[in-house]
Amino acid sequence: MDDIRNIVVLTGAGISAESGVATFRGPGGLWEGHRVEDVCTPEALARDPETVHQFYDARRAALAGVEPNAAHRALARLDAAWPGELLIVTQNVDDLHERAGAKRLIHMHGELRSALCAMCGAHSRWPGALPPGSACTDCGEAMLRPDIVFFGEIPREMERIEQALARCDLFVSVGTSGAVYPAAGFVQMAAAYEAATLELNLDRSEGSHRFDESRLGPAGVLVPRWVDSLLS
Ligand code: APR
Repeated sequence: MDDIRNIVVLTGAGISAESGVATFRGPGGLWEGHRVEDVCTPEALARDPETVHQFYDARRAALAGVEPNAAHRALARLDAAWPGELLIVTQNVDDLHERAGAKRLIHMHGELRSALCAMCGAHSRWPGALPPGSACTDCGEAMLRPDIVFFGEIPREMERIEQALARCDLFVSVGTSGAVYPAAGFVQMAAAYEAATLELNLDRSEGSHRFDESRLGPAGVLVPRWVDSLLS
């Protein structure tokens, strides 16, 4: 491990599962109860804003009783102690990484606790329910929407993510099914730049075969153990 300087960590819904946050796929997953095309596309927002806003209001409300778990805390510890470059890229829209203390963090799929103005592009903190037609505090237009990257929209900060992947010596994926691009392709990008690649996941994922090593188990056990091995 002594030749590891720059690290990229990709996280998915599985890192928040032990905090009680629903994942998307698998038993009881969010996509079991909802169709993506009804709640997570620009067309759905235009067609039925009430349903879309209610879906995200419910997920935002569900965050109230939720705490970061040992995996979030271990990554925050790594963030604070790691002397080289570190970027945590999360697909999650919960705020558990930042509540655990992570700083070097990108939410590539947006954030539940934020609203986006469809007119001026301003992001505003939004902890509560977000009724359709709420007015933007920057431009005043009644055009606020969930600050979520819908299917068919461009993930956030992709240039910064790709630059980090080009420089990293180690790419680690935690708690993601590898079902959704571009995130599912990050392991191949990192490997193309000679990075070592490690997957920490409860089950084998669609991308497990692309990693140098895949460790199976709960993130709350595997991530602290991995961080301890790096910092020791
Ligand atoms: N520890 C580690 N991994 C876990 C745990 C756990 N306790 N519980 C579940 N997992 C794993 C599952 O095995 C699965 O591979 O987490 C993964 C969750 O997969 P998904 O539910 O597909 O979530 P994710 O990969 O984050 O989805 C990617 O899809 O719907 C879109 O925008 C949404 O960001 C999301 C993207």
